Amino acid sequence: MATRAKARDTTGKASSGGQIAVLVVHGPNLNLLGEREPEVYGRTRLADINKELKLLGRELEMKVETFQSNSEGGIVDRIQNARGKCDVLLINPGAYTHTSVAIRDAIAAVNIPVIEVHLSNVYRREPFRHHSTIADIAHGRIMGFGAESYSLALRAARTIAEESRRQRE
Ligand code: DQA
Repeated sequence: MATRAKARDTTGKASSGGQIAVLVVHGPNLNLLGEREPEVYGRTRLADINKELKLLGRELEMKVETFQSNSEGGIVDRIQNARGKCDVLLINPGAYTHTSVAIRDAIAAVNIPVIEVHLSNVYRREPFRHHSTIADIAHGRIMGFGAESYSLALRAARTIAEESRRQRE
């Protein structure tokens, strides 16, 4: 069986050979999930969300990596590092959703399809949460389903990755 490294084409892009690889990036304060404003974000902890995503990934035959950072630079570095190594990026940029041009630029630079994820429905909340710096470059957005937003996004990631692999064949 081809290894992941061998499955890359010469442009460094993940190719049709290997398992679909998904990177899940969680932004600031999401490390406090379960304790932080549970009436808004629910009682599920981040570790449990990540565990669930890895299990679902196994079921769907996808490799799932997770990452959380409270710092904008840390998130930018992780996105850059995913270049050529992952098929789909799931990102909940937390509060950086509403402010970060740097995260937007990193996403545009790596050219990986992105699904924007939020636990809460930001449109039912304060107006400053209605703007997203990445909405117009995301493949799609899933929000308002609490922790389930992530599993819905992971299922969508599989569809997107399969579609783009079919187009490359
Ligand atoms: C959030 C919504 C953001 O407005 C907020 O700053 C977060 C979490 C969500 O998942 O609902 O930290 O991204």
